[in-house]
Amino acid sequence: MKQIITGDNSITFENPVYEQAYHSLSGALSEAKLKYAEPCKIAEKAKSGSLTILDICFGLGYNSLLAIHTAKASNPKCKIKIYALEMDPQVFGLINKIDMDQEYAAIYNMIKRLSKDKLSIKQGGVDLQLHLGDARETILEIKDKADAVFLDPFSPPKNPELWTEEFFSNIHARMKKSAILATYSCAALVRINLVRAGFDVKDGPHAGRYAPSTLAFPLP
Ligand SMILES: C[S@@+](CC[C@H](N)C(=O)[O-])C[C@H]1O[C@@H](n2cnc3c(N)ncnc32)[C@H](O)[C@@H]1O
Repeated sequence: MKQIITGDNSITFENPVYEQAYHSLSGALSEAKLKYAEPCKIAEKAKSGSLTILDICFGLGYNSLLAIHTAKASNPKCKIKIYALEMDPQVFGLINKIDMDQEYAAIYNMIKRLSKDKLSIKQGGVDLQLHLGDARETILEIKDKADAVFLDPFSPPKNPELWTEEFFSNIHARMKKSAILATYSCAALVRINLVRAGFDVKDGPHAGRYAPSTLAFPLP
């Protein structure tokens, strides 16, 4: 896969099947921080001592990486449980090609231990469990409720199955009342389907784009 150096010098790849990059070209790691970890209030929620995250479309694992880094910086004792959903085993090979910045290398080395034969890692208070397969099915395996949801498929035209009302309802059922869902897309259909699935929807940060991202809050 073609490697791309993004605007903040972090690496992403272009997926030839979807003809899209895994991250915003303005900055892959910045996107994980500004569009996912920060708006989901990971630092604040980590202060409670435990955090459960549903990372939908794990890809290169940057959203989980930034969440772990942010949570541990806020509360080193925080216990973090991550349910990561990903369909493509090729990501393990891509992850292992990345020479991560020193600041994040220790956590990314943990993520690098994931493979098709090793789908869960426990280290330093982090319990990362990867569910390999179509997220529409693997989400049904999650019996826990999350404090934060990262929703990061390819764009709605390229990856339509993960932007539907039905899929969003299955996410809603796996969120605590106080949980926050973040996604980079502000497409009208995405927001309409979120509302239909029982979410209140607000603009999220713009972070390097003209358009805002989207934050969704589960209504009771
Ligand atoms: C935009 S990338 C995600 C980037 C990732 N969040 C990161 O931080 O590196 C989208 C990912 O969704 C995965 N994907 C696409 N359709 C899927 C599906 N139906 N079920 C599970 N994963 C899917 C792709 O394989 C790809 O890794």
